[in-house]
Amino acid sequence: MTPTYWVELSGDAAELGRRELESVMAARFPAAPPPREVPGRPGVQEVEVPDPQTLAFPLAFSRRILAPIAEGPVTRLANALSREPDRGTIAVRLFPGDRLPEALAAEIGEGYKRDEGRRIDLRHPRTTYVVLRGARREEYMLCREEAGTGRAFLRQLRPGDLPFRKPVTLSPLLARALVNLAAIPPGGSLLDPFCGTGAIGLDSGILGYRVIVSDKDGRMVRGTLTNLTRSSIVPTAVAQCDVSGVCEALEGHLPVDAVVTDPPYGRASSTHGERAMDVVENALRVLRSVVRPGGRFVFMLPVPTMPETALEGWTAVYPPLPLRVHSSLTRWVYVLRQTWDEA
Ligand SMILES: C[S@@+](CC[C@H](N)C(=O)[O-])C[C@H]1O[C@@H](n2cnc3c(N)ncnc32)[C@H](O)[C@@H]1O
Repeated sequence: MTPTYWVELSGDAAELGRRELESVMAARFPAAPPPREVPGRPGVQEVEVPDPQTLAFPLAFSRRILAPIAEGPVTRLANALSREPDRGTIAVRLFPGDRLPEALAAEIGEGYKRDEGRRIDLRHPRTTYVVLRGARREEYMLCREEAGTGRAFLRQLRPGDLPFRKPVTLSPLLARALVNLAAIPPGGSLLDPFCGTGAIGLDSGILGYRVIVSDKDGRMVRGTLTNLTRSSIVPTAVAQCDVSGVCEALEGHLPVDAVVTDPPYGRASSTHGERAMDVVENALRVLRSVVRPGGRFVFMLPVPTMPETALEGWTAVYPPLPLRVHSSLTRWVYVLRQTWDEA
């Protein structure tokens, strides 16, 4: 039987985190059931996967993967911990936000010290256990932390560290989430036709996808190449072209499994004189023959709706996801599926 794990969402963009997890599961574990919410815990999703590390690595909007071990009163959890194999030094921590009594962690941790040499080390434990509130009063849940996600690593990366950067450069965390939402199977291909400084291409390369990038602005194309080269990522194809010209410019490399992009929206990024929404509507028309049938188109806009006519040939996988950039700017993440060829 496939083991069951709990995925703790990051909590700063709950719906985005849930959809990201769902997409990564669909792409990497297509035979597994979709994630489901743990009853009474909106921030925790239950998954069935043979290998939690493979699931954890790409995730940007989840914190960690937990393996449930036991449920019940304190004594039962301490006993369960005593039956755990030797996992080096351990720490028992309380689940953030559950407001559990401090003493609980130490009481349950005592169970581990059954044999000589099994020690608690709260600063540098080799294994961490987590106590969560249970279904009933005086009952709790004990989990073992199985894997940290890619989030911690992505948060350390700064757009400012790239050799070529602009104010429009996407944060590595957001670029990762957009790429994940495209649900591309391992080794599949992705096009970013408004590549700018290349944050999306860079992250797709890190995830092992075949990367195709283009932009109307030659400086951006060269800058993207500089950034990719610094990370030893060799794109499958590169073009300097308006989005309307991608079919000709990238002939021989299409269709792709997905398009993931951050179109210009006229504030920090140039639309080269065009109305921002015209650029996007034009892209939607052109790109439906660039993405394979059923493949996804993931992009961000500063508005939550688009005219019906612009979406012809696409079906929304779900309504746009709100993403609060700062107090006065919300962006919306659109996830569409190519249904043009089904018409
Ligand atoms: C918001 S920026 C992309 C930022 C990018 N995600 C990054 O991390 O740097 C939009 C890009 O679209 C390009 N662009 C604007 N209009 C275009 C068009 N009609 N066709 C292709 N590229 C266009 C701009 O040159 C700009 O580099």
